[in-house]
Amino acid sequence: MTTPGHKELLEMNSAARIDILSCNLPLAYISAIRARCPEIIVHRGLDAARLEKEIRGTIIAALVWGVTPKNLDLLPALTMVQGLGAGVDHLLEPDVVPPSVPIARVSNEFQAIGMAEYVVLHVLRQDRNLEAIYERRQSRQWGQGYLDHAGARTVGVMGLGNIAHRACNALSAVGFEVRGLSQTAREIEGITCFGTGRLDEFLDGCHHLVCLLPLTRATKGILNSRTFNRLANGSFLINAARGSHLVEADLIPALDSGRLGGATLDVLTNEPPRHDHPFWSDPRILLTGHSAIASALRPENIAPLIAENLYLVARGLQPRNLVDRQRGY
Ligand code: GLV
Repeated sequence: MTTPGHKELLEMNSAARIDILSCNLPLAYISAIRARCPEIIVHRGLDAARLEKEIRGTIIAALVWGVTPKNLDLLPALTMVQGLGAGVDHLLEPDVVPPSVPIARVSNEFQAIGMAEYVVLHVLRQDRNLEAIYERRQSRQWGQGYLDHAGARTVGVMGLGNIAHRACNALSAVGFEVRGLSQTAREIEGITCFGTGRLDEFLDGCHHLVCLLPLTRATKGILNSRTFNRLANGSFLINAARGSHLVEADLIPALDSGRLGGATLDVLTNEPPRHDHPFWSDPRILLTGHSAIASALRPENIAPLIAENLYLVARGLQPRNLVDRQRGY
């Protein structure tokens, strides 16, 4: 059965109110969702055990923003947990979302565009050594450097979902040789694709490594010294996926040995990091504060999908952008 559109959904009969649990949603999101779905009645909280018993029975959907909700199994009518980001690893932790309740995530063009901009910006910044230009400015040095065009260098992008695919195309348009890695190898024009079974071949000699993978049991810790050792000497790392992809203890040794020339990290295992986290003060590392696809998170970019998913589940239908729990994304 094809999923009905917004207009058809509105024409279908359903309850007069849609009770939702808002786990940490800022008000602007609630307003944007309500503008498209006026039937919502919003209950707030991170722990379902703290809601009154009568309210628990009314909630059909939980909307989750950057936190791990508690005791969702106490909501007998729950038919969807909607994450507000691309990554839903926190919702897939054991005992967070009851196994029978579908999990949906946000996947849209805004994320893909935002990430492609971020990746091109930082690959080029590293590639053209912008840092050295800033340093020369301090001492009023008029420097000339020699640099091959991007085509002389290879960027390996880990991940080939819609976000990573867009980033690969953008890098390729700049002129880089681009490799893509996905669970099963794909065919994409202009990109050399590898399945994860050929990880070493994918890594061998890359000048930039960009991680855009979902965080799963298989990908946790994939950015480690063994991985770095396969890259070209002095290569650059960008992690814009999840902090736990990186074995943090392996990063500074790889920079010290010269295997890595620098790293741009949008994410860390613990965010925000402590003020004395060594990555803050290391000039070879740039922390960008989980901002890579911030523009995608505008309420108006997310609200249409959320409203539609609420109407779908209120009418007993499957939400869009369902997460495959087995795959982990
Ligand atoms: C951001 O980190 C997201 O998962 O969308």
